[in-house]
Amino acid sequence: MTTAPANVNFDKGLGNTIAAETEMSFIDGQNGILEYVGIEIDALARNSTFEEVVYLLWNRRLPKKAELDAFTKEIRAEYDLPQPIWDMIRSMPKDAKPMHALRTLVSALSLHDAEVEDPSNEANQRKSIRMLAKTPALIAGFDRHRKGKDFVKPDRNADIATSFLTMLNGEAPTETMARALDVCLILHADHGLNASTFAARVTIATLSDMYSAMTTAIGTLKGPLHGGANEAVMELLNEIGDIDQVEPTIMHKLKNKDRIMGFGHRVYKAYDPRATYLKTFAKQIAEDTGNKKLYEMSSKIEEIMDREVASKGIYPNVDFYSATTYASIGLEIDLFTPMFAMSRIAGWAGHCIEQLADNRLIRPGAHYVGPHEQPYVPLEKR
Ligand code: ACO
Repeated sequence: MTTAPANVNFDKGLGNTIAAETEMSFIDGQNGILEYVGIEIDALARNSTFEEVVYLLWNRRLPKKAELDAFTKEIRAEYDLPQPIWDMIRSMPKDAKPMHALRTLVSALSLHDAEVEDPSNEANQRKSIRMLAKTPALIAGFDRHRKGKDFVKPDRNADIATSFLTMLNGEAPTETMARALDVCLILHADHGLNASTFAARVTIATLSDMYSAMTTAIGTLKGPLHGGANEAVMELLNEIGDIDQVEPTIMHKLKNKDRIMGFGHRVYKAYDPRATYLKTFAKQIAEDTGNKKLYEMSSKIEEIMDREVASKGIYPNVDFYSATTYASIGLEIDLFTPMFAMSRIAGWAGHCIEQLADNRLIRPGAHYVGPHEQPYVPLEKR
């Protein structure tokens, strides 16, 4: 076995490597701090809207009222899908997983965007708006198709969260439901150089195109070690089934050294700041919707985890209470990760534009550990 060259670091998983600069989000994992452009996530979750947060991430400042109005108008004008994309959704297998459908459909949108190969900053910003605006229709459209229902067109008079829930359910959501989704969209919009954002930056750094970068990112988000964890939390809650079963199930899992989904984080060794507000919010939603069981079970799990493993720096992460929140507003489990994608498109697109502003091909090395000096053996002699 050879050794790595002396001047090169071997950092499996790149956990100790800084690979890019960003002005969008700041994370202090030891103290449980997340800021978007210097503003604490808690203040944004309490006071802002998803559209305003996207403006903040993309422009590095909060908009004035007229700027926010203009930005919102631009997004809403792009809500609807080209007819061939509606037709394509109709042609998809009904048993396909929504994340597969979403990845395919975002890629397909590129076929109907005349600016797909225009690499200018202005065109990339317009494409970012289009992808952000159209993703809700892709997800809701596929969900209605798989249930054999007619499509519901986007509501251009409503914000992204409200329009999405209207398309999904065929009726306007209550204010509580729309606000719950809006808060989740704010909390998931950007998070440093996470796996899917890194994947998006790698793709755009080759001077590919924005749609290819988003498609790469969606494929990367899908994995259960990344965006897929929120679905695993809901599966855990379903497995537990009832409040009486929380203590025995969790203790049994901890004894078996099983991971409790929705707890722990590679970066946060304190309470995930995204979970702090979401916990309060999940409680309020449970009260408003009368759907208290999931919140009560989640709260009990947290109590046990706090007693048993908080000393190791294991606390609830964003997925823990977002699962409860999504379920309380009636979303099916396999739509949880698409909700993450719908929000994180803001971060992915912002990072791609940031990467292009000071681009260098991202190309780490691999440490070769195979054999050397092997003879070539002709086919007939192997
Ligand atoms: N449940 C129980 N114990 C845990 C958990 C958990 N969820 N997470 C970590 N631990 C324990 C480990 O068993 C280990 O204990 P030990 O020291 O006695 O062996 C200790 O805490 C440290 O664990 P590591 O594996 O070193 O932690 P790491 O930082 O590598 O893992 C990860 C982070 C992958 C997120 C992990 O906590 C986990 O698997 N969590 C569950 C899945 C999940 O919720 N993922 C979503 C993350 S947030 C997001 O992607 C948006």
